[in-house]
Amino acid sequence: MLEEIKILAVESSCDETAAAVVVNGREVRSNIISSQIDLHTIYGGVVPEIASRKHVEHINYVIQEALDTAGVTLNDIDAVAVTYGPGLVGALLVGVAEAKAISYARNLPLIGVHHIEGHISANYIENPDLEPPYVCLVVSGGHSHLVKVVDYGVYEVLGRTRDDAAGEAFDKVARAIGLGYPGGPKIDRQAKLGNPQAIVFPRASIADHPYDFSFSGLKSAVLNYLNQCEMKGETYDQADVAASFQQAVVDVLTGHAMLAMEETGMKRLAIAGGVASNTALRQSMKEACTQRGIAFYSPSPILCTDNAAMIGAAAYYEYRKGVRHGLDLNAVPNLRLGDR
Ligand code: KG4
Ligand code: ZN
Repeated sequence: MLEEIKILAVESSCDETAAAVVVNGREVRSNIISSQIDLHTIYGGVVPEIASRKHVEHINYVIQEALDTAGVTLNDIDAVAVTYGPGLVGALLVGVAEAKAISYARNLPLIGVHHIEGHISANYIENPDLEPPYVCLVVSGGHSHLVKVVDYGVYEVLGRTRDDAAGEAFDKVARAIGLGYPGGPKIDRQAKLGNPQAIVFPRASIADHPYDFSFSGLKSAVLNYLNQCEMKGETYDQADVAASFQQAVVDVLTGHAMLAMEETGMKRLAIAGGVASNTALRQSMKEACTQRGIAFYSPSPILCTDNAAMIGAAAYYEYRKGVRHGLDLNAVPNLRLGDR
């Protein structure tokens, strides 16, 4: 029998204060998320200083709730894990300081986790059969990466965005068409009422770098379309713009991912990050994988957007490898995947 390793995980890299108790990287005993979305909605996006202040207010309660829901106390915990980058520096610092305080006070091992590694590891929670190697498309508000997961904690970045992240494009287009923040879920919903073929928006590819992404041209094309409508005194159909924009993003993400599957010869594909909760993307990836006999993995939407269970999943494999951070662990806002 495998020893039970219970990890208390903390996540505060953006606007969610989250804590979870995860056993052996795959069994989630609790997953508490305190979202600040309502607060930031009035400003049309995340205000970093407000995010940090709210993390300070909420973090102790969120951790206590995670322990209570799991039916454990700190006496039962084997290690403390925390996201230390990338993210908003002030927001990250709250979680890092909190995890260090618990580690010091209870003499528990401390494990700093890369946020993107967390997103990828969300796939382990509901898929007991998933093990490296596989390919993962990570699409969130700050990142768009196509990654080969060579082993636990060992990543080969095949491609990344040259400009905006996929989620950033969703958020900016949503604002431009009057849907507001947070853009992704609102476009997802509105697109269901529109025609994805109504407007042809560009699908960008980068010469000699077939796995890289670029979404700023697409964003500009949407803005140009809206300006042209305004100049001609015409109205535009919000649902058609949402659906056509979303289709362009989905086509590029699916196309790049399938190319990577063909060229690497891998037979397993996972998706991760906030944009991975997008209905059209999940459907498109699933169909493309089925056609090619590729096994497709996608976390439940609640595990795609920011949460601490995914940090606990990633931390377990680091723990097993003997990774331990010292009390000098700091927040690293622009930490790159593969950096330690
Ligand atoms: O992973 P995440 O929660 O935070 C980051 O690490 O960035 O991702 C947030 C991003 C936002 O840009 C949000 O608009 C997008 O994920 N998102 C979506 C959907 N749900 C969240 N984008 C498209 N469709 C969705 N259903
Ligand atoms: Zn995230």
